[in-house]
Amino acid sequence: MAKTFLDILACIILVSFHSASAIQLNLDDHASIHHAASTVAYGMMKYYHGNETGQTPGLLPEPYYWWEAGAMFGALIDYWRYTGDSTYNDVVSQAMLWQASANQDFMPPNQTKAEGNDDQAFWAITALMAAESGFPNPPPEDPQWLALAQAVFNLQAARWDHETCNGGLRWQIFPFNRGYHYKNSISQGGFFDLAVRLGAFTGNSTYYDWADKMYAWCESVGLISPTYQVFDGTDSLIKCSELNHDQWSYNTAIFLHGSAVMYNQTTGTTQETWRNRTAGFLQSSFAFFTSPSTSSSQTPANSPATNANKTIMYEAACERSATCNTDQRSFKAYLSRWLAATSQLAPFTAPSILPLLRSSALAAAQSCSGGTDGVTCGQKWWVEGWDGNYGVGEQMSALEVIQSCLVEGSRAPLDGSDGGASQGNAGAGGGTGREGAEDVEEIGKRDREGAVALTVVLVLGTVAAAWWMAV
Ligand SMILES: *[C@@H]1O[C@H](CO)[C@@H](O)[C@H](O)[C@H]1NC(C)=O
Ligand SMILES: *[C@@H]1O[C@H](CO)[C@@H](O)[C@H](O)[C@H]1NC(C)=O
Ligand SMILES: *[C@@H]1O[C@H](CO)[C@@H](O)[C@H](O)[C@H]1NC(C)=O
Ligand SMILES: *[C@@H]1O[C@H](CO)[C@@H](O)[C@H](O)[C@H]1NC(C)=O
Ligand SMILES: *[C@@H]1O[C@H](CO)[C@@H](O)[C@H](O)[C@H]1NC(C)=O
Ligand SMILES: *[C@@H]1O[C@H](CO)[C@@H](O)[C@H](O)[C@H]1NC(C)=O
Repeated sequence: MAKTFLDILACIILVSFHSASAIQLNLDDHASIHHAASTVAYGMMKYYHGNETGQTPGLLPEPYYWWEAGAMFGALIDYWRYTGDSTYNDVVSQAMLWQASANQDFMPPNQTKAEGNDDQAFWAITALMAAESGFPNPPPEDPQWLALAQAVFNLQAARWDHETCNGGLRWQIFPFNRGYHYKNSISQGGFFDLAVRLGAFTGNSTYYDWADKMYAWCESVGLISPTYQVFDGTDSLIKCSELNHDQWSYNTAIFLHGSAVMYNQTTGTTQETWRNRTAGFLQSSFAFFTSPSTSSSQTPANSPATNANKTIMYEAACERSATCNTDQRSFKAYLSRWLAATSQLAPFTAPSILPLLRSSALAAAQSCSGGTDGVTCGQKWWVEGWDGNYGVGEQMSALEVIQSCLVEGSRAPLDGSDGGASQGNAGAGGGTGREGAEDVEEIGKRDREGAVALTVVLVLGTVAAAWWMAV
């Protein structure tokens, strides 16, 4: 009886001790990084029910959009690559293959009515990460990772828009969707990144030609500025004559990563060009590291501060004003992911990237001290603790920045020539994927009202962000 009482007491003490503690992270100890990443990944997967009976594999519950789930499975592939922990591999495979759909191109009928090129690209990039990292291949009767990415590439290449602004991709796939007229950087960046990676993986130079064409187009309309800032998008209704100047970390990061792949794969003057671009995007990504609490100017400094307080990653356009939406809360995940990969592909960047990842990881771990489990991660890493925010984006961002600290000495992604063994199909996909547009539009009509309400919310959000940027 006394023993039972003591056991209970010990248990209570342990529990309360546990919930009071943040995630412990010692960056000099690989086991500590594994452990922290595993705790954060577990917290992230509490949101996912797609593998339970009666649920749809690959979907996150509301308010998370389809694309974020695709991105999340990418974070878990990197989790496996960095830590060797295969706990989530089966869940990831099941989700990916389900959402690849019968068409094998990440245009599942339930999603197509509202699917953007950027949404599709995030799933395709996850498939490509699986191919590059030697993630277990699906059974032969199922679509293969490389072929899935190639299918998406082929569809998007066929969607290259000859009608307006001399090219580029529209945000939305279908003309009946709002956003069809918008040409946003993440759609261009998604295609660019897919193209360079497929070029590196397969050695087929057609992919590089498309990457060059896309990069040149982004420069021509000003989405990429001469100082390597990446602006949110431009509008085909006004011939891409004006830009939405919002800057989001994942836009800079995706062009940084793609440029680093090109640098890695080229030689001579071409390599020097891509080296300059890699260095340029890296420099402009430093804008996402200035701590808001110490900066009196509303414009983030364009260089990392030497002060330790100014080396913490943040989403410059919305964190300070507390206006980050569900999507934006996950963007630091991709900045972390692509910075880490860049440090491997373009080793000259490692000395500036690695310290930023480390200081951000420590701050992120410190933010993972909230919720009823005591290890829920927050959004603002610069507040020294949990800020009361929580969600998939918060968990994913913390996961990616923490596991990125294992990048040094980790196995670099394979290419097709040095053992990458995913089966490809250069001809996968077909057409633009718009062929079923009438059916899709019919389903779309039913959802139109909801979409309008959502657009109003998004527009208000953008106005608020623009106001903040302007102040
Ligand atoms: C679903 O996946 C989680 C891991 O995220 C696992 O713990 C759980 O047992 C799985 N559920 C089913 C029904 O397979
Ligand atoms: C589409 O939705 C139906 C009904 O919710 C579901 O049963 C099916 O699994 C979904 N398909 C995909 C690919 O998500
Ligand atoms: C790269 O940048 C350096 C320094 O700005 C410049 O001198 C050089 O011409 C650039 N190289 C290429 C190929 O653009
Ligand atoms: C950053 O600076 C602010 C204001 O001086 C301070 O409140 C905060 O604790 C600092 N954060 C860190 C991580 O040192
Ligand atoms: C390309 O990436 C590999 C893998 O990280 C690296 O070992 C190699 O040095 C890189 N090549 C160049 C030219 O930096
Ligand atoms: C290279 O890729 C292009 C674009 O997908 C494809 O049309 C072509 O067949 C590929 N070439 C080879 C040799 O696989």
